[in-house]
Amino acid sequence: METIKVCDKEFELFISSQEIENAVTKVAQRLNKDYAGREVVFLSVLNGSFMFSATLLKHIDLTCLVSFIRLSSYMETSTTGKVVEVLGLMEDIKGKDIVILEDIVDTGTTMHVLVPKLKALGANTVEICCMLQKPSMLQYPEIQPKYVGIEIENEFILGYGLDYHGYARNLSSIYKIKK
Ligand code: IMP
Ligand code: MG
Repeated sequence: METIKVCDKEFELFISSQEIENAVTKVAQRLNKDYAGREVVFLSVLNGSFMFSATLLKHIDLTCLVSFIRLSSYMETSTTGKVVEVLGLMEDIKGKDIVILEDIVDTGTTMHVLVPKLKALGANTVEICCMLQKPSMLQYPEIQPKYVGIEIENEFILGYGLDYHGYARNLSSIYKIKK
């Protein structure tokens, strides 16, 4: 089993690049079918989604716009807790069909904040498309990604855009933490 060290931790090969790309291609084919004849805005959530987005979009044959956002989260000192700000959304999304491209849906917190924001900005439809999901970790029942590449158990993983302390985003396979 291939093992790598990233910062202070050891990781072992979990999902090969071939498996990821097969799963992502299948998702792209579903999107091509479901959105046939419609214009789509793909909204890729940086940083983690850059590699997934590139792979997926190469298999999309729809008329589409591709946009990138970052989410900055910070704690408010007193009341509501976590606030996530959408950075860099320049396009007018009013009336548009949005597909969010996310690397992984874990607790669903990020999507729980982002989806209502896009709806409030007037999006016609908003769907979540993620490379990976940890279904057992989901804390928001209303967050149901329609397009999921691969479902995984609750393991800490990296590679294919996902990082540990900012490292290992460049790896073409996905590795899980060694126990
Ligand atoms: P959520 O808001 O809890 O759904 O978490 C989503 C974000 O947490 C993802 O976009 C990732 O950036 C990060 N994340 C969740 N699980 C992992 C992991 O196993 N490795 C690296 N990043 C992760
Ligand atoms: Mg992310």
